[in-house]
Amino acid sequence: MSSRGTASLDTTVSPSAGARPARSLRSWLEHLSASGRVATIEKPVALKHELAAIAKKLDGSRAAVFVQPGGHAIPVVSGFMSRRAWIAEAMGVSEDQLLQRFREAAEHPLAWQEVPADTALCQQVVHTQGIDLHRLLPIPTHSEHDSGPYITAGLVIARNPRTGIQNVSINRIQVHGPDRMAILLLPRHLYAFQRTAESAGEPLDVAVVIGVDPLTMLASQAITPIDHDELEIAGALHGEPLPVVKCVSNGVKVPAFAEIVIEGRILPNVREQEGPFGEFPKYYSAREGREVIEVTALTHRAKPIYHTIVPAEMEHLLLGAIPREATLLAHLQRSHPNVKDVHLSVGGVCRYHLWIQFEKKREGEAKNVILCAFGAHYDIKQVVVVDTDVDVHDPAEIEWAIATRFQADRDLVVIEGAQGSPLDPSTTVGQPDDAPAHLQGISAKMGLDATRPVVYASHVFTRVRIPGQDSVDLEALVASDNAAFDNYLGDVHA
Ligand SMILES: Cc1cc2nc3c(=O)[nH]c(=O)nc-3n(C[C@H](O)[C@H](O)[C@H](O)COP(=O)(O)O)c2cc1C
Repeated sequence: MSSRGTASLDTTVSPSAGARPARSLRSWLEHLSASGRVATIEKPVALKHELAAIAKKLDGSRAAVFVQPGGHAIPVVSGFMSRRAWIAEAMGVSEDQLLQRFREAAEHPLAWQEVPADTALCQQVVHTQGIDLHRLLPIPTHSEHDSGPYITAGLVIARNPRTGIQNVSINRIQVHGPDRMAILLLPRHLYAFQRTAESAGEPLDVAVVIGVDPLTMLASQAITPIDHDELEIAGALHGEPLPVVKCVSNGVKVPAFAEIVIEGRILPNVREQEGPFGEFPKYYSAREGREVIEVTALTHRAKPIYHTIVPAEMEHLLLGAIPREATLLAHLQRSHPNVKDVHLSVGGVCRYHLWIQFEKKREGEAKNVILCAFGAHYDIKQVVVVDTDVDVHDPAEIEWAIATRFQADRDLVVIEGAQGSPLDPSTTVGQPDDAPAHLQGISAKMGLDATRPVVYASHVFTRVRIPGQDSVDLEALVASDNAAFDNYLGDVHA
């Protein structure tokens, strides 16, 4: 068992009984396939660009399964969690309960359960000698200017060198040698672990886990304090402890039902060139020296499936959006209990633009909510606050609220020179290409209060509606053909 205590799952939003199709990647793919949501590509496809181009075309409509990727026997899947409704389905709740359910799982993690190696599917096949990742795995090259093949859907699991508690994140990983990879570590938990190990002159043991169910993928993106093991959040989302097994070449514990596990260590004081790579804002990030993983073992199921995420497409965007929305909602509600819902818009790459639904009671409150949102995450660049009659998940509704309830001289909040996302290319305008890191990502924040006044003259802000519009039953009303109308017109069609 993990070193943290078992917490019971005391939820107010419970998954519906029997609605647990996402126990493993395979059961989830079977579930999608049974409802026509899997497209199988039987023809051989090239790993360089072609596979990603096809997966991108299918993103958001069907998951893609490639059975002959680049001459490999291992199939590649992509896009199996690229709709908000599918993710809710995987959790067994309705879409409007998604954030609440994720939040409850993050607040009530469930300790994992270690299983013996001989029962762990992810260790059915073990390679420890002569590993050549390019030969053994179908690793695609995605975007036009990417430096080469990248692992984009690997859960990177490592232990805190100080406490031994595990952490899970997804990091882009460039595979530039048979057993050598470069990894992007932004300054969060994995980065902190690596720096602690490095300052002691030690490598950091890691496992890169490829091919797990949507709930374990989602849990990896939870925004938690350090020393909260995201595999325990995955357990809470599953409603039962996650079975884990110890790696064959180090002490990291990985989901036993995973398809593929690359074991290795991040080397101290070694950096190799990584990038360019097409990132989530739909621009490339630069080629720079990055930390290096030396591979020590590769284990997998007897017939494994390889998962790739096409960068900047819906699977990538939603994976980041849902855990963030859950955290942002909790953060806002602590100071402003009348915040009802939040949405990170797709046009804002599910990171930069936050829409907030708020039941305003007093004038000025919406501006406090805007300021609170800016403080919640440095990525937030624009905030729009709307009333409760506006659907916060519908871009047309948000634009309508801005068009009819917002005045720029009265309702606009602008903060200059704050910290923003370094991946937002507009934050580097006017800076030389080699600007030092502390000058990167400086961004203005913009908030729009698109709420109507608390008190307003009758009819001024009354939304037009037609009595009975919500209860119209078209199935019962609309005839199967136009015979009655044609009959009325007779032959007088001109
Ligand atoms: C598809 C995908 C790719 C990501 N790539 C990176 C990356 O290359 N480097 C990074 O630091 N974070 C990356 N992230 C974000 C982290 O996985 C995420 O912030 C995670 O919650 C960090 O975990 P931690 O706070 O426990 O360290 C990526 C997220 C997704 C969904």
